Amino acid sequence: TDSRIERVKSLIKDHPDFPKPGILFRDIFPVLRNPAVFQELLDVMVEQVKAKAPNVELIVGLESRGFLFGPSIALKLNCGFAPVRKKGKLPGEKESVAYALEYGTDIFEVQKEAFKPGQSVVIVDDLLATGGTMKAACELIQKVGANVVECLVVIELTDLKGRDKVTKPCTSLITY
Ligand code: PRP
Ligand code: HPA
Repeated sequence: TDSRIERVKSLIKDHPDFPKPGILFRDIFPVLRNPAVFQELLDVMVEQVKAKAPNVELIVGLESRGFLFGPSIALKLNCGFAPVRKKGKLPGEKESVAYALEYGTDIFEVQKEAFKPGQSVVIVDDLLATGGTMKAACELIQKVGANVVECLVVIELTDLKGRDKVTKPCTSLITY
């Protein structure tokens, strides 16, 4: 076990009954308040991308907490960053996909111009829960003709079996 990840885990704060009764919410923001530990987390994420996807050409981050990690990782790897956003936020030509939420559905969008055919993409997010979000993001990247080579999350909630929904290789750094 990596002592850097142990330090990250020690800062993740549990909030019982947030945002609803019965949910144990894992808050990553205390990690971002500690620059030394945040840097260690980013270092580990960069190492994971280098190991699992050495040919990566574009980092994609998922709204909103994927945006906290994706751009820093992309800069370190000297590759670009593109966002997956909730509908209506991005200008220009878009591709979109519907995805399941706990109640109802939402729509994710990307800008078509951000992707090249066959481009190797790594998707980054803070947390894998039911996997609906990551599955939809993979479908969306496939729709624009790029190739998801790896999905990287900080936290995986293993009870929810989100990994089973994601057909692409998926790495998590901390599991609960
Ligand atoms: C959270 C989290 C992941 C997603 C995981 O985002 O940051 O993106 O849920 O859930 P799933 O695996 O069950 O799909 P949320 O939808 O709360 O959006 P936000 O970051 O914009 O608040
Ligand atoms: N923490 C943060 N985001 C989440 C969680 C959680 O426990 N579950 C689903 N999204």
